Amino acid sequence: MSCRTVVFISGRGSNLKALLANQRHFSVECVLSNREDAAGLMFADAQGIPTFTAPRDAFNSVREQKSALYKKTEELQPDLILLAGYMQIIDADFIHQYENRILNIHPSLLPAFPGLEPHRKAIESGAQDHGCTVHLVTPEVDSGPLLAQMSCEIRQEETEDSLASRVLELEHQLYPWVVNAIAGKELIYHADGRLESSDALKKEATERKITIAP
Ligand code: GRF
Repeated sequence: MSCRTVVFISGRGSNLKALLANQRHFSVECVLSNREDAAGLMFADAQGIPTFTAPRDAFNSVREQKSALYKKTEELQPDLILLAGYMQIIDADFIHQYENRILNIHPSLLPAFPGLEPHRKAIESGAQDHGCTVHLVTPEVDSGPLLAQMSCEIRQEETEDSLASRVLELEHQLYPWVVNAIAGKELIYHADGRLESSDALKKEATERKITIAP
């Protein structure tokens, strides 16, 4: 049976598009957003994917707004929740409820440069490499167990924009690949923190220049 996912977005939605285009072992049941103007919602609509929005100004408090998103998610009973450019802190209670079943993509080689402006921080740090990471979500932002990464060189004369666009291309390869690997049970995160991957997946990762976390 296919793995049912929901995707949380707040903006552009290019990772959402990559996920929608690569649903092999998983399906996207709904796209949820805290912003009505998230461009990704229009794309999901056009693809016939159900959407749900809970914008802040439609509720008396952030707490009520978040509760609406959580309640909708619970109704959908997803196997996995995929954060794709979701720009709102998710409460610890909700994260614990879906422990090890919420994934996020972050545009840096975590644990380097968590939080905002990772590309600028990477260039300014003088690092030679940069990239993106798919990780499990824990209450501390961008700090959960790493699943896989893709990297690229930081070039001479690199700008934030040039680096961001190269990393984004990697993101679009990495995120669907990881979700398919988990959904297809070729990548398994065990409760004791061990990450198990099949030999076939390891081989494929090498071919695609993907690093599975140790
Ligand atoms: C991506 O860079 C993602 O890694 C980060 O937010 C950005 C979202 O972009 N978390 P998009 O909305 O998927 O185009």
